[in-house]
Amino acid sequence: MSDGRFVYRGRFGIIAAIRRALTPPPAPTEAQPHPADETVTTPEIVAEPVPQPGSVDQTRDLKGAYIAHVEMVKGIMSHEEAMQTAIGGGFDEIGRIETALLQTYGLEEDGYVIDVGCGSGRLAKPLSGYLKGTYLGIDLVPDLLEHARKITGRPDWRFEQIDHIGIPEADGRADMVVFF
Ligand SMILES: C[S@@+](CC[C@H](N)C(=O)[O-])C[C@H]1O[C@@H](n2cnc3c(N)ncnc32)[C@H](O)[C@@H]1O
Repeated sequence: MSDGRFVYRGRFGIIAAIRRALTPPPAPTEAQPHPADETVTTPEIVAEPVPQPGSVDQTRDLKGAYIAHVEMVKGIMSHEEAMQTAIGGGFDEIGRIETALLQTYGLEEDGYVIDVGCGSGRLAKPLSGYLKGTYLGIDLVPDLLEHARKITGRPDWRFEQIDHIGIPEADGRADMVVFF
């Protein structure tokens, strides 16, 4: 039964449901206090310092962690598969969706796109069929950038490795800066 309506669950299901309905809940005893009466101790919560706007957390090796992740994926599948999987998979489908999003938000054919964390070219590849303008892809992982450069086949586009949080371009140059 649920909210007054009858749901048939078979003969044994009905019998079990009737048994459950007829069985009273166990009464609390001295030896076994009712769960609602137990004292609950919550674990101590230690707040981490909140990063201030504009500050960069230098305590974590973000680049090392991403490179190690890509190396691990390369160790268990072919290079091509690893390049597609390490950045999240769904390479062709998601690349097309990312491209369509930029077009929907008004990217023109002669525009300038900066792709922060461009990975192995999931966006750059399909975008190269549309964008005649300028593209800058930046990432922390050299292997991914090399793959992106190779599959995109656009010698006029820049793929740059960075070692820090930042964008190697002057303010106000790009039409779109994307972080997929
Ligand atoms: C989830 S993947 C997405 C890759 C790509 N944007 C796409 O849609 O396929 C995230 C990428 O961001 C890169 N990344 C992470 N932190 C970064 C940073 N601070 N600067 C540049 N790239 C970064 C990683 O190396 C990785 O390739």
